[in-house]
Amino acid sequence: MSELIRFGVSLEKNLLKKFDQYIKDENYPTRSKAISDLISESITKRDWIKSKCVFGSITIFYNHHKRDLTNKLTDIQHDFNDIIISNLHVHIDKDNCLELIALKGESKRVDDLRKILKSIKSLNFNISIVKIEEV
Ligand code: NI
Repeated sequence: MSELIRFGVSLEKNLLKKFDQYIKDENYPTRSKAISDLISESITKRDWIKSKCVFGSITIFYNHHKRDLTNKLTDIQHDFNDIIISNLHVHIDKDNCLELIALKGESKRVDDLRKILKSIKSLNFNISIVKIEEV
């Protein structure tokens, strides 16, 4: 961890009230820790596409009876095996599957994968980048 810098923040009373409730709900030990996480999360969200290497995951929820969707997802994962480092498939119930895909690699490739998944109709997925690295 680098050096800690103290700085003042001014907030509207109502926003601070909501923020304190958020801190309580999320079980944060201090306001500083909550602010630090929120800033870090925002910057990561905005900057990951510009960085070189990212670490993250994709969560996909789908109905496995849609055969072409299942096949398409398999094909896509083979095409992106350079950035997909692991995969967990869970049979949620009789119809639905949850797939967790771990990612590590070039942000451009991760963004390409995100765009391809986005282009698939009726696919519910979420991408989360937890760490960026300037290599
Ligand atoms: Ni399944």
